[in-house]
Amino acid sequence: MQIIKDPLEMQQIALAVRAAGKRLGVVPTMGFLHAGHLSLVQLAHERSDVVVLTLFVNPTQFGPKEDLAKYPRDFERDAELCRTAGVDILFAPEAGAMYAPDASSYVSEEKLTRGLCGASRPGHFRGVCTVVAKLFNLCLPHVAVFGAKDAQQLRVIRRMTRDLNFPIEIVAGPTIREPDGLALSSRNVYLSAAERRQALVLKRALDEAARLFKSGERAAAALRAAMEQIITQAPAARIDYIEIVDDDTLEPVPTLTRPTLIALAVFLGKTRLIDNAVL
Ligand code: PAJ
Repeated sequence: MQIIKDPLEMQQIALAVRAAGKRLGVVPTMGFLHAGHLSLVQLAHERSDVVVLTLFVNPTQFGPKEDLAKYPRDFERDAELCRTAGVDILFAPEAGAMYAPDASSYVSEEKLTRGLCGASRPGHFRGVCTVVAKLFNLCLPHVAVFGAKDAQQLRVIRRMTRDLNFPIEIVAGPTIREPDGLALSSRNVYLSAAERRQALVLKRALDEAARLFKSGERAAAALRAAMEQIITQAPAARIDYIEIVDDDTLEPVPTLTRPTLIALAVFLGKTRLIDNAVL
């Protein structure tokens, strides 16, 4: 496995890989890797000859009061996991090499980012789109793999890729969970033992919505009320949002008639967790 820190060296290598007629796959991450990230590496392997995993804790997608400084980091462990997973190139640039001090160009998506995490985290998706566009230009992949766990992010990146004509296929991987149902997340390490137990309410609420839907319930308000009831039973939980939105437009729907995304963000203590399901 090659470890590359210099963005322009990454771009030169990508050009050489492409010139050799090989397919390049990229998995963008912020590191502190878990089985969810590694499942995306597997998908990238199935679709390409050379797999690049990018590891960059992107400062522009964190708000001023968010956890940029304490975001979990362990480069040696991540590098070892990448080697074991058969990553060919680990691209891990420094923030100073990615953003010039006077950088003043950004990429924003202006419709799908209005609600959900876009409303709770102003500027977040501008940071995500900007860094993903930069990573696309540096890694020059044929295919890029993202997780369904970050439902809005996946849809925003698909939209950006289409709107800006990146010649890249966006592939989605399913959400990987702990045996008890909690979606894997780098941020789960922040949870105390009590918060970890109570974090199960996210998946339980989604399962309850799915159960009601299967039994014929189509009113978004009824699904939301049932989910709220489950989440508020956990004393450490504070709901940021529960949204029931059209899966394509991400606009709220009163009645479920088409594929619908149920997305939620819940604080357990100070840790904000997200999860979702499509009905
Ligand atoms: P990060 O949170 O590290 O996630 C990297 C990728 O792993 C994303 O595509 C995310 O959806 C996926 N992922 C996270 N948890 C998962 C799980 N439990 N199952 C399956 N996939 C999972 O998302 C980011 O980083 C950043 O915003 C990034 C796109 C890298 C831009 O900085």
